Amino acid sequence: MIAPVNPGDRLDRFRVQSLVARSGMASIFRALDLSNGNTVAIKVPHPEMECDPLFYDRFHREAEIGRKLDHPGVVKILPDEDQSRVYMAMEWVEGRPLREILDGQKTLPMDRAVRIALGICDALGYIHAHGVVHRDLKPDNIMVDAEDRIKLIDFGIARGRRPSPNVRQVHQGYGHPGLRLARAGEKQAWRRAFGHLRRRRHSLRNAGRRVAVSGA
Ligand SMILES: Nc1ncnc2c1ncn2[C@@H]1O[C@H](COP(=O)(O)OP(=O)(O)OP(=O)(O)O)[C@@H](O)[C@H]1O
Ligand SMILES: [Mg+2]
Repeated sequence: MIAPVNPGDRLDRFRVQSLVARSGMASIFRALDLSNGNTVAIKVPHPEMECDPLFYDRFHREAEIGRKLDHPGVVKILPDEDQSRVYMAMEWVEGRPLREILDGQKTLPMDRAVRIALGICDALGYIHAHGVVHRDLKPDNIMVDAEDRIKLIDFGIARGRRPSPNVRQVHQGYGHPGLRLARAGEKQAWRRAFGHLRRRRHSLRNAGRRVAVSGA
């Protein structure tokens, strides 16, 4: 079995610094790119996933789709240069997941909600125009920085223009086990955070104009 990665390890041109998150299939680390001093995020599959070809198919697709996209609202995946094992290096995204913000503040102020919603629409417009559907859009997969700029992350079950025949299978067998529950929770969270926008369409239009005019 391949060795697990730990903070302090050197992984090709990266120095692993700290563990950021751990899901059922992979760990996300903060790391330093020793070639240029940039901070990056590295997603490394758990060693026990190594014998799982469907998981690797999904992992490679995530990287492949990500590398084709170039937009400020979408996390950038770095090119893989002679990797000694399977992992994905990404730009480091400042900020925190929208989930964390919504957990702390059930209803966002109008201007803030509009700013974030417009950022999400902009990023979605871009990926859809490039033939990509995220398919796992939820507050956990939207990073928000201090200026309310957003970045979509986690294209693990995204679909591109030419879906591989395994995508559906991978999604069913290896996608998030609690996907349905997560979706129900997601809807509630969105309703809580953004529902008031629908109820106050006129204010929304004005807030949208304000945000557009202020260039936020
Ligand atoms: N590029 C990044 N920069 C900074 N933090 C990140 C980045 N990518 C992911 N993270 C952090 O790691 C968390 C989990 O990331 P991600 O959603 O990609 O994986 P996951 O949902 O755990 O895995 P998967 O759905 O592929 O099993 C995010 O919520 C975020 O806090
Ligand atoms: Mg995620």
